[in-house]
Amino acid sequence: MKTLVVANWKLNPATQKEAKNLFEEVKNRVRNAKNVEVVICPPFVYLPSVVLKKGKLVLGAQNVFFREKGAFTGEVSPLMLKDLNVKYVIIGHSETRKHLGETNEIINKKINEALTAKLKPIFCVGENEREDKFSVLDNQIKEGLKGILGKDIKNVVIAYEPVWAIGTGKNSSVDETLSSILFIRKIIKKLYNIKAAENIKILYGGSIDHSNAALYVKEGGANGLLVGGASLNGKEFADIVKSVN
Ligand code: PGA
Repeated sequence: MKTLVVANWKLNPATQKEAKNLFEEVKNRVRNAKNVEVVICPPFVYLPSVVLKKGKLVLGAQNVFFREKGAFTGEVSPLMLKDLNVKYVIIGHSETRKHLGETNEIINKKINEALTAKLKPIFCVGENEREDKFSVLDNQIKEGLKGILGKDIKNVVIAYEPVWAIGTGKNSSVDETLSSILFIRKIIKKLYNIKAAENIKILYGGSIDHSNAALYVKEGGANGLLVGGASLNGKEFADIVKSVN
């Protein structure tokens, strides 16, 4: 199983020129990382300009709507992403949940529609600082995956991102991360079966940098990483990729 390292650029950078330069820099720097699938998730508007030069990099989007087409002002459909050679889509990020009021029900519809279009959802889950981690994970995963069939679960990636660890420099300890990831596998085993639980890719995200990245993969049970802030620096992001290659 290849390790998956996903760059979530969020609402950055400010211009197309910068986006192209960052993309090009990452592409050159990770060229020899053969054991890692490197996914770049730029803002929607930059996807058309980077797709033409993507080389071995894989494209992802940061969100998607839950219908194919129609009267839905401001939205982007799974089919449009598919047409741009996008393979992955982040769904249920804590920032979308918080700032756009995205609910588990909406997230479930998005996962469903993304799978129908043959996109791979990167389904984000994680607790806030004072919440009980296990009940939050249980609830978010059960509601997010409601109705998702066993044949489709292998195309879902789960990203465990404790909300308090995102962009704060306070990352989850390796032991805590391992316990969360094992717990998530247990839920998947209950909902599906042991094979699904063993095969599903689970990423860790939250204040990853080149100095801590490898620990989560080697000792924290993660099959890869979802990287925010550090993915905006080409060298730093490439060092993360190389550290888990
Ligand atoms: P961070 O963000 O690496 O800046 O903490 C991770 C994320 O939000 O996916």
